[in-house]
Amino acid sequence: MKLEDIKRITVLGAGTMGAGIAQTCSQAGFKVTMMDLTEDLVKGGFGRIRTPLEKRVERGKMTQEQVEDIIGGIKGTTDLRGAVKGTHFVIEAVFEDMRVKKEVLETIDDVCPPEVVFASNTSSLSVTEMASVTSRPDRFLGMHFFNPAPVMRLIELIRGSETSDETVALGRELSMKLGKEPVEVLETPGFVVNRILVPMMNEAFNLLLEGAASPEDIDKAMKLGTNMPMGPFELADFTGLDVGLAVMEVLQRETGDPKFRPSPLLRQYVRAGRLGRKTGRGVYDYGSK
Ligand code: CAA
Repeated sequence: MKLEDIKRITVLGAGTMGAGIAQTCSQAGFKVTMMDLTEDLVKGGFGRIRTPLEKRVERGKMTQEQVEDIIGGIKGTTDLRGAVKGTHFVIEAVFEDMRVKKEVLETIDDVCPPEVVFASNTSSLSVTEMASVTSRPDRFLGMHFFNPAPVMRLIELIRGSETSDETVALGRELSMKLGKEPVEVLETPGFVVNRILVPMMNEAFNLLLEGAASPEDIDKAMKLGTNMPMGPFELADFTGLDVGLAVMEVLQRETGDPKFRPSPLLRQYVRAGRLGRKTGRGVYDYGSK
């Protein structure tokens, strides 16, 4: 598969990342199919795309016509096998669970012609393991987008043990066509960004547990002291505390290094359903969802 052969991209998953990736692909001129399990989840995905774009229209940064073009370029579906019909490139952004991902990939592998390349937006799981359930481990790579996908400029390109040079080159070209800057990373737990960023957020929870400072002051210190746009707790609430905990667990399990121990406070918040903005409460309270 060459970049110029890619006309339609299928994005599996219409959650925060799936919807953001679908929007990014449509904005770059690709025809997009966005798939999730239920009509409500697909509708939710379109809502996630429309709301920030409508805000841009209100602020005079975009026309209504441009918004309709972006959304009009995305076809929603709940049919997994149908979603990959006639597609040239698949980006998997389903629930971050190896079992779920393998099941989905195995199913579509049966239906997709061999030249179709598969990418996973996993934030920390093994690309090699996912690729192993398909008939195309050489045409399989990680393409890790960052939230919000239409805004953040980085894509980490993850090379699994069997990923071919051609597939990595295609991932690189596609990333640039999407307006992103690719960085190539060998498969390693957490890749580059999450290996550094998530332990930083985890350490903020440890500081809070020790009573060192208030959440507001920890966020303020990091924003004013390092020019981060969001403090660690604002970012944890934005990306999801469950996502952060899952990354810490992968880092701990895969490396066996105790320095990656998830903070007990992070774990407790997740157990309490305090997952961040998406549930209306994380470290901070956002009122009813
Ligand atoms: N689609 C299109 N445009 C969008 C958008 C969307 N979904 N969301 C925001 N924007 C645009 C806005 O319209 C605005 O554009 P203009 O400057 O042209 O007006 C711009 O992005 C900035 O947005 P806002 O003005 O609403 O808000 P802000 O200036 O406070 O920025 C932010 C918001 C971009 C999220 C910023 O706070 C930020 O960069 N935060 C850090 C995000 C981050 O670190 N993400 C990575 C998380 S880690 C991860 O994702 C990996 C993982 O696996 C866990």
